[in-house]
Amino acid sequence: MAGKASALEGQVAVVTGAGRGIGAAIARKLGTMGAAVLVSGRTPAPLDQTVRTIVEAGHRAEAVTCDVTAQQSVNALAEQVEKKFGRVDILVNNAGIGGFSTPLHQLPVEDWDRILNTNLRGVFYMIHALAPLMIKGKSGHIINISSLAGKNALPNGAAYAASKWGLNGLSYSVAEELRSHNIRVAVICPGSTNTELSPHEGKSASRMLQPDDVAHVVEMLVTQAPQSFASEVLLRPTLKP
Ligand SMILES: NC(=O)c1ccc[n+]([C@@H]2O[C@H](COP(=O)([O-])OP(=O)(O)OC[C@H]3O[C@@H](n4cnc5c(N)ncnc54)[C@H](OP(=O)(O)O)[C@@H]3O)[C@@H](O)[C@H]2O)c1
Repeated sequence: MAGKASALEGQVAVVTGAGRGIGAAIARKLGTMGAAVLVSGRTPAPLDQTVRTIVEAGHRAEAVTCDVTAQQSVNALAEQVEKKFGRVDILVNNAGIGGFSTPLHQLPVEDWDRILNTNLRGVFYMIHALAPLMIKGKSGHIINISSLAGKNALPNGAAYAASKWGLNGLSYSVAEELRSHNIRVAVICPGSTNTELSPHEGKSASRMLQPDDVAHVVEMLVTQAPQSFASEVLLRPTLKP
């Protein structure tokens, strides 16, 4: 579904992990709705591909290489946003990595660190770097892409589940800190979505959520009336995949 072309005219959006999968779909959606989109991630080629798609459709986007686990890299992105646009209206913390096949007692410590540093610490760095600009602008949306694994047990994926349970707790708490600044912090918890994150063994790709389904929820969140604050969306496939 195409977004309303002018709904976000004049606004600036930052999407992490936007080279592929859910992040790319969200970046395309926000571009279609008229925002200038900063498409970020670690690998330049897929970022350029997402930007090309948005620009060729007549909208505004640029790629910014950024590793959310490196605070310097995140701060450099924030400086670039402030210098170039002087504002940020929408921050979508989407970058994330999986880990679904190892019981915790066998999980290498490095894997624990990588998962928690990306899925949880990275969101802290992004909010730390960009919320001050939103506070200055007296408005904004921060949307954190969590998971149903942040609501449920996930055997063989305990580190991933812990990162998403942690992300939910972070989101609910920061939401209370920032709502008086007219900044709405929301969390989306999707179920199995058809991307490269995991092999989703034995599941039907067509029954799974598609990246555009998550982007549609982002569209709903950023087009709410000013007095409305949907703070959490659990998004399930209609039929179990
Ligand atoms: N797919 C699902 O079933 C599902 C379900 C619920 C929630 N989610 C969540 O949705 C989000 C997006 O996942 P996806 O399914 O779209 O996965 P994906 O296709 O693997 O995409 C993940 C994206 O994150 C980027 N990324 C990874 N590490 C990064 C880092 N350190 N810094 C910046 N970017 C980084 C990747 O790009 P580079 O490697 O180039 O940096 C990639 O663009 C994740 O938070 C995931 O946990 C996914």
